[in-house]
Amino acid sequence: RSTRFYEFKIQTTRVTKLCNTKEIVTVNHMFPGPVVYAQEDDRIIIKVTNQSPYNATIHWHGIRQRLSCWFDGPSYITQCPIQPGQAFTYEFTMFQQKGTFFWHAHVSWLRGTVYGGLIVYPKTGVPYPFKYPYEEHIIILGEYWLQDVVQLERQVIASGGPPPPANAFTINGHPGPNYNCSGNDVYKIDVVPGKTYLLRLINAGLNMENFFGIANHKLTIVEADAEYTKPFTTTLVMLGPGQTVNVLVTADQPIGKYSMAMGPYMSAQGVAFQNISAIAYFQYLGALPNSLSLPAKLPNFNDNLAVKTIMDGLKSLNPVNVPKEIDTNLFVTIGLNVQKCRSKTPQKNCQGVNNGVMAASMNNISFVKPNISVLEAFYKKIDGFYTDDFPGAPLKFYDFVNGAPNNIPNNTNAANGTRVKVLEYGSRVQIIFQDTGTLTTENHPIHLHGYSFYVIGYGTGNYNPQTANFNLVDPPYMNTIGVPVGGWAAIRFTADNPGVWFMHCHIEIHLSWGLGTVLIVKNGKGELERLPHPPADLPRC
Ligand code: C2O
Repeated sequence: RSTRFYEFKIQTTRVTKLCNTKEIVTVNHMFPGPVVYAQEDDRIIIKVTNQSPYNATIHWHGIRQRLSCWFDGPSYITQCPIQPGQAFTYEFTMFQQKGTFFWHAHVSWLRGTVYGGLIVYPKTGVPYPFKYPYEEHIIILGEYWLQDVVQLERQVIASGGPPPPANAFTINGHPGPNYNCSGNDVYKIDVVPGKTYLLRLINAGLNMENFFGIANHKLTIVEADAEYTKPFTTTLVMLGPGQTVNVLVTADQPIGKYSMAMGPYMSAQGVAFQNISAIAYFQYLGALPNSLSLPAKLPNFNDNLAVKTIMDGLKSLNPVNVPKEIDTNLFVTIGLNVQKCRSKTPQKNCQGVNNGVMAASMNNISFVKPNISVLEAFYKKIDGFYTDDFPGAPLKFYDFVNGAPNNIPNNTNAANGTRVKVLEYGSRVQIIFQDTGTLTTENHPIHLHGYSFYVIGYGTGNYNPQTANFNLVDPPYMNTIGVPVGGWAAIRFTADNPGVWFMHCHIEIHLSWGLGTVLIVKNGKGELERLPHPPADLPRC
């Protein structure tokens, strides 16, 4: 096992896109940022220096941070932000993990421009479960705003409405020819006819869930959220923000130039936008450079059936270890809330985020970030920053569950609080997520830090234990699950990684509105079941 060193300098960089030049925050002046490469079981050390004017942290999405939760990165959960001019070194092991991950800022909406790939190869000599392809490429889906993303968050919260759509979708930072001034701002892969390619797809976008496909080509999914899947051949994939998928694609079509397209499946609150896809090229050697690219056909906006077909195709390749018994069973409603206001016209002094009208919640609790990190409060036993009474089911009073789907209840007010759920070490946990129709029903990509979980079931409508079918044989092992629109998803995992772990919707505006909670997993008894000490230089608030 070796140690990999990286230096991340968070700094502002001038970029020109969409006929417009502006400053964005990047890492090492790169957009997307630098790729971190490692092998399974390697140690990764990354010194992050914040030279930007904003508070920053970096999260290593999908990496379980075994016994090192203070290097996980979510601001006010495991650390306070790295302030402008300060530095912090993240140090962790890729303990029994390999595959496609990514890293991103985890404070305000900074991850809109601060993100990059994190690729972990198997240990030397350990084969892939498929014939290793001719070449591999990282494909990061993103969203680009002409506005500063940190200010954008403040504005959206103040507006009380949904976020505006991005000015462009991007593939590896490039919008492609469908957008103004972007004919040459396009990503391209040159392919050799007959060869097979591994594409490592990452959705780093803020607020959109996206389809991806390549004109006339089949994609074979072999990995989802950095765990191998049974090969599943399809013409398209859908990735919510926070999801990664590896696909194999063979250049088996007539020599030509083909579009790789990224287009929207669903947006936060169904917000209207121009239905323009980001395009990159999958270009055969021998194709005329100026030839027109063959268009890729993506499903329509809100095509839930297309998404279900892809989900149904995801099965774990390797033997699974799904807990057969459950010690802790949580039923968690997720949804948006229109909050009560003390003054109605104009709406002022509301109970939403920043006194606005909007909130989002789990079990009708809208998560409020504390002023110091939950981790610090927990380990130093400092009272007053959180309570450990996150309810195991929705609060009766609000009774949202019957609202799903599309049946809007009268009372959509959520309570505000920093309520966490404490789990015993080794407890076997089941969580049923239920999407509710408090404002709109939509697909929420729920992400759990510190763990992967088995997705043992999902369906539309209200969860019904009598009719729900669970797959305990080969369920996919994920870290982000798109809970179906107005539907439910069931996950299971064993709480064997002590620490403070954020669980939240990876749609950024929903996170801003409080759609999350924290799971604190207690130490076990054995030496390898207990957290050592946090680093002395962990940033303070
Ligand atoms: Cu990818 Cu809490 O994040």
